[in-house]
Amino acid sequence: MNTTTFTPPPPAPVISPPADAPVGTGPAALTSWRFRRARVQDADAVIELVMLIDLHLHPSETAAAVAPLRRMLAEDQTSNGSLSHGGNHMLVAEGTDGSLVGVAHCGPAAWMFDDDIVKPFMRRKVLERVASVNHIAVRGDHRGQDIATNLLARTEHDLRAAGYAALTLRHDRHLTRFYQAAGYTSGPTLGLHLPPVGLITESARGWRYAVKPLTEQVTFTTMRGTRALTGILPG
Ligand SMILES: CC(C)(COP(=O)(O)OP(=O)(O)OC[C@H]1O[C@@H](n2cnc3c(N)ncnc32)[C@H](O)[C@@H]1OP(=O)(O)O)[C@@H](O)C(=O)NCCC(=O)NCCS
Repeated sequence: MNTTTFTPPPPAPVISPPADAPVGTGPAALTSWRFRRARVQDADAVIELVMLIDLHLHPSETAAAVAPLRRMLAEDQTSNGSLSHGGNHMLVAEGTDGSLVGVAHCGPAAWMFDDDIVKPFMRRKVLERVASVNHIAVRGDHRGQDIATNLLARTEHDLRAAGYAALTLRHDRHLTRFYQAAGYTSGPTLGLHLPPVGLITESARGWRYAVKPLTEQVTFTTMRGTRALTGILPG
């Protein structure tokens, strides 16, 4: 069993605009926005946006579930890394009046290991290569203007630059079209081909899994009837 330290390959040579550069505008002047990294002062607005997501939790559990976001935003952001908050990346869409109209938050896909299928030595390697969109939301009065699509595209760009090979998330069935339109493959099972372990799968009642390769090394294969990502780990 190979337990040598995993070093991610150098990031693909992409031309990266500054993190605060505006990369999207709405169809009308009143609906224009810009993207930037989230700051500690955004915590209340970010949590308000995240509350728009059906987190599949009992209302009494929601406050505890979003509390880590506040802690994450309070963390020092001076690491100069490609991601905004260590192993997490949070971008916000800001309207012309300074209010936040959208958020996208990526981080480790902890839910991927709910059933302990991936052994601990392998987890770190996988989490260094596969990130999860943990939260994405756009304010109701700003939907349908491609804000979420652009937030996702920018997030993918930044993750690729940070050495990630694939992005995944779990979502409700009614969002399948949204993720497919953004280039994701969506299905009831997440399959990962991880030599030497082999095929690991993740599925949970009520969820679908969207996935997108971020590099050419990652492709889809079919194993035991399950569509799976392969090429995530080198070698
Ligand atoms: C899902 C969400 C983030 C999309 O934001 P948005 O900025 O309106 O999305 P976009 O404008 O980029 O949409 C791109 C495409 O997806 C489609 N789409 C967007 N939201 C959709 C939804 N809820 N259901 C189905 N399709 C949707 C759009 O119609 C558009 O397709 P089109 O160009 O063919 O018309 C937004 O609806 C939202 O905040 N929902 C509540 C929170 C949530 O459920 N988040 C997802 C957690 S997994």
